[in-house]
Amino acid sequence: MATAAAHRTAGAPAYGAPHADPDGDARQRAFDAAVAADERVEPRDWMPDAYRATLVRQIAQHAHSEIIGMQPEANWITRAPSLRRKAILMAKVQDEAGHGLYLYSAAETLGVSRDELLDKLHSGRQKYSSIFNYPTLTWADVGAIGWLVDGAAITNQVPLCRCSYGPYARAMVRVCKEESFHQRQGYELLLALSRGTPEQHAMAQDAVDRWWWPSLMMFGPPDDASQHSAQSMAWKIKRHSNDELRQRFVDICVPQAESLGLTLPDPDLKWNEEHGRHDFGAIDWTEFWDVLKGNGPCNEQRLTQRRRAHDEGAWVREAAAAHAAKHAAKHTGKHTGPTGVEQA
Ligand code: 3HC
Repeated sequence: MATAAAHRTAGAPAYGAPHADPDGDARQRAFDAAVAADERVEPRDWMPDAYRATLVRQIAQHAHSEIIGMQPEANWITRAPSLRRKAILMAKVQDEAGHGLYLYSAAETLGVSRDELLDKLHSGRQKYSSIFNYPTLTWADVGAIGWLVDGAAITNQVPLCRCSYGPYARAMVRVCKEESFHQRQGYELLLALSRGTPEQHAMAQDAVDRWWWPSLMMFGPPDDASQHSAQSMAWKIKRHSNDELRQRFVDICVPQAESLGLTLPDPDLKWNEEHGRHDFGAIDWTEFWDVLKGNGPCNEQRLTQRRRAHDEGAWVREAAAAHAAKHAAKHTGKHTGPTGVEQA
């Protein structure tokens, strides 16, 4: 545990709760020192309310992205071209559900409940990644999502393994390992199509053409329009700016596209010798903000489906709660009824 921890732990307030804190300055200094020294902030440690609120915002958006992200790919499970591809895709979609669970659990350590966060998602008060508001039109989209979307997610999330907040950083370690498998399955799928018949090659190229620009938008608005980056980087929640990570992703993708035998749909993409990186064309930020406002091709469909899945899963949650209560009663000697409510 951190050397500054003793100053930081006692009496952490619930998320968002106002708190009288006679020792506030000392705690703030200890928090700042811990962050500066690259120590981890843990749930019981004191932290500024704004730090807590930023983490809840980011982790919730991330968790929502994982579970909404199951939809575009699940669309292809019944139409996978072979048993092998079907098994891989099912495992991947299931992994995304797991990522959502780790992330909701990480958010809960900050004093919010999963129900509260899901309610905010369902009522449109919290965002999820723009990328999942685009349709999956062909089987090749499964490959393009794996290669580009999961590739972008890894580029963004590897630095989050060093996030100053312990539970989020630890969740990211496992998520990144699994995302790495997802990225490789997408690459391998696209390679098979690219080397297949002319029709298969064309299908792979069309998918890359449609997913390339939305993948670049996943990194968020440009730095000069990124409202939260400066503060999040000062707190070491984010380690790099949106533009830095976007650039890194472009530089990684260019040689991979060449190996795939596919082109990236950007006539302005070229190596810049002087800066040692690729220049690329202008991103359509109007489209990005429009998708964030709910006007993307699939926003409505994704949220409707999510709300329906939540409602239809109510009986599962009730059954799981009843089972957990029954199991707990076995150990405590207390008896509960079928709803998990204690009986006299
Ligand atoms: N989609 C939707 N909203 C986005 C966005 C995107 N691609 N990029 C930015 N935004 C939102 C921000 O949430 C913020 O909105 P808010 O103030 O209402 O919360 C606003 O746009 C301004 O953006 P900022 O750059 O100021 O926001 P951040 O500093 O939070 O940076 C981020 C945005 C880079 C996405 C950062 O939050 C982050 O790194 N998040 C963790 C990673 C994540 O959420 N990934 C989701 C990708 S999908 C995924 O992981 C699933 C996998 O299976 C592929």
